[in-house]
Amino acid sequence: MTSFKVRELSSTDTEALLAFESRNREWFESHIDAREPSFYSEQGVADHIQGYLSDFALGVWHPFVIEGANGEIVGRANLKSIDSAKGSAEVGYRVGERACGQGLATLALKHLIREAQARWALTHLVAYVYPENVGSQKVLGRCGFLAEQPAPGDPAPGERRFVLTLQT
Ligand SMILES: CC(C)(COP(=O)(O)OP(=O)(O)OC[C@H]1O[C@@H](n2cnc3c(N)ncnc32)[C@H](O)[C@@H]1OP(=O)(O)O)[C@@H](O)C(=O)NCCC(=O)NCCS
Repeated sequence: MTSFKVRELSSTDTEALLAFESRNREWFESHIDAREPSFYSEQGVADHIQGYLSDFALGVWHPFVIEGANGEIVGRANLKSIDSAKGSAEVGYRVGERACGQGLATLALKHLIREAQARWALTHLVAYVYPENVGSQKVLGRCGFLAEQPAPGDPAPGERRFVLTLQT
């Protein structure tokens, strides 16, 4: 079986990330919000990585990629909007179409949960998922997230909000 690892995003990932995002563009756009067209260029992806790494340095974002045995990027996962005062962050993940169905999103989400606890000492994580995204809801449920009714004023009212309370 091919081995996969979850590692932090790096400034040297531009080429591999552009290949991954371009190859799976239609696939992702059928499940989640589309990126700006300008993202799909070397400069666009380099700027994107730089933005994520700057936010990591500020302690508000923790970006990871899932890497295959040959060093190719097959998925991504992020702790987003980390708020140490509130003890919260949002999780996000995406897996390339050809790599789906092998447990990679589950692997990546478990990694995010461990990082959220061990590195960031967070108390809860949230995720936003479109109701028709059954696969993603299965991943969240398997990792202990529970669906919530949206509160008035919550962002992205079309999406369902899931919450995981972490052990402290
Ligand atoms: C959702 C996504 C992350 C799942 O990635 P993955 O690596 O295939 O996830 P896993 O293998 O860990 O688990 C997915 C589970 O959902 C199941 N599943 C997937 N699509 C399904 C569907 N339409 N109906 C029912 N079950 C489904 C899989 O069979 C699997 O369950 P199993 O292990 O019991 O067989 C991936 O499809 C993806 O990246 N989609 C596009 C981006 C996206 O939606 N991101 C999440 C935004 S909230």
